[in-house]
Order: sequence, then structure tokens, then C-alpha cells
Amino acid sequence: MISPLIQDKHVVKHIAILGHGAIGLLWAHSLVALGHRVTLLSHRLILPPSKQQFVTRDGKELINHLIFSHNFPESVDLVLVTTKAYQVQSALLPHLHKISVPIMLLHNGMGAIDTLAIDSQHQVILATTTHGALKNHNTLTHTGVGNTIIGNYQNTEEGLLEEWQQLLNNALPSVETHSNIRQPLLLKLAINCVINPLTAIHQCKNGELLNSDFQPQIDKLIAELQQVISKLDNDWPHDEISLKKMIMAVARATADNYSSMAQDVKYQRRTEIDFINGYLISKGRQLDINLIENSKLIATLTKNHLSQ
Ligand code: PAF
Repeated sequence: MISPLIQDKHVVKHIAILGHGAIGLLWAHSLVALGHRVTLLSHRLILPPSKQQFVTRDGKELINHLIFSHNFPESVDLVLVTTKAYQVQSALLPHLHKISVPIMLLHNGMGAIDTLAIDSQHQVILATTTHGALKNHNTLTHTGVGNTIIGNYQNTEEGLLEEWQQLLNNALPSVETHSNIRQPLLLKLAINCVINPLTAIHQCKNGELLNSDFQPQIDKLIAELQQVISKLDNDWPHDEISLKKMIMAVARATADNYSSMAQDVKYQRRTEIDFINGYLISKGRQLDINLIENSKLIATLTKNHLSQ
């Protein structure tokens, strides 16, 4: 049955979502609530139950029936990839040859696209989001309203990008397009380079990074990030001061949250550090810039993580 929210049946889309972590589920619930078809691809031997609870930002508790599948579905309109950065390749590679619709990559960090054998025909959209969500068994709670920015990486025409922007914006606002998607991705990367490893090493909430004790180290990290990022993007609009303001604003807005990396370390899961600080360190190396403070963070994190 088509949801009454969708008046015109032609706008019902079928979206395949790869990755059913918090952000994948947030999109799945938001799209299904609007009447779209969603198939969540899963590698789990036993698929999660279809009946899933969604707690919205205004505290409404909804039950949605989500489709989880081991098989890549037929006739999809969009492939949304919300896996961890290090899973993008293994999740997408087996299906790449049969995908002729846009692929949207929405994950923390950068560089996963470089590990993919995408060919020149694929339509690829890159995206970044600041929404917060928490997954607990079969309940997904939308913990923080944010925004999502999408932009063409290759072959996505402006009209098509705007079509998806509108559709996604109706499901989970706000969604905006950006003509130079690298810029918002680099900004999110800088935020993650500071907040994620520090909160992971100290096992603290994001808000604790506002304490004065952290400031000298944060300033050194930002100086290094600024040095590399300003060379990666010719139109980079930030200096060290504005970059610090942006990072601290995110720490303040998410003060009560544990970052994704703090949680990964707590639950002894692999972290995304290689695609966050690791990505910038390798870009720095190509530019002959040595990111000493960022490298120290990786070393500390790896040492602590392995000795757990
Ligand atoms: O990875 C995360 O947890 C988030 O991207 C951020 C912005 C650091 C907020 O917790």
C-alpha cells in the first residue's frame, strides 16, 4: 500500500541500503515512514527481525516493518552505503557490476572511494551528515537533528542530484547539495580528526573536550590539519581560528554523546582511524608535511586498543 503521504505513486522509490548501523537505520525508518521501499542488505547469518522500533526526535515511538535481505534487490533507484569506512569496499564490490543507478556513500572519514574499483560509468554521490542516532537491539533512537550535504563525485547530473536532494530532504531534513562536496567532507574530517581519537583515548564524552586541559593539544592538531587541508582544497574557507570554532561548536552541540570512535574502542571494535587521521597523514606525506600530533594520536590509540 502506498503511504497517504505520497500522493503521486511515481515518486515512490526503492532504495537499497548497505549497512544497518545507526545511520543506515535512521534513513531506512525515515524513508519507509514516507512510503518509499527500502531493502537493507545484511551479511548477518540470522537477519534482524523486520519489526523495528523508531523513536523520533519528538519522542514518538513508531513501529516500522523493515526489509532485511542477504540478496541485492532487483530494480532499485539508489544504493545508499552507510557502512563503516573500512567496510565500503567489501560491502559494495560484489554488487558494483550490476549497479547502474546512483551510488551514495555516506560514512565517516575519507578515502574509501579510492579503494573501490568504480568504473567511469558509475554515478557516484558523496555525502556527509551530522544527524545523531543510537541503535539498541531493535530500537533506533534519533538523538540529534542534523543536516546532510550531498554532492556529485562523478557522473551525477545536477537535475538528478536535485531530485535526490528533494526526496531525501522530505524524509529526513535538512538535505542540501554542494557544488564542491570535498569541502564539507574535509570539514567533517577535521572535526572527526580531533573529537574522535581524543574521546576514544580518554573514553570521555564529546563535551569534555571543551575543558582547558585539552586546548594545547587541540590547537596543535588543528594547526596540522589546517596546513594539509588548505592545500587539498583551493577554496578552503577556514583558518585555524574559524576551524577551531567549528570543531568546538560540534563538541558543544554533542556534549552528552560518546563519539563513534569512543564507542568502537569501548566495545573493542575496529575504529575508522585509518580513514580519519590516517587519511590526512597519508595526504600530508604526499605533500611533504609531517603530521606529528596526529600520528601520536594513532600510536596511542593503537597501543591502548591492542592492550585491552
Ligand atoms: O563520529 C562521530 O561520533 C560524529 O561524527 C561526531 C561529529 C564526532 C559527533 O559525535
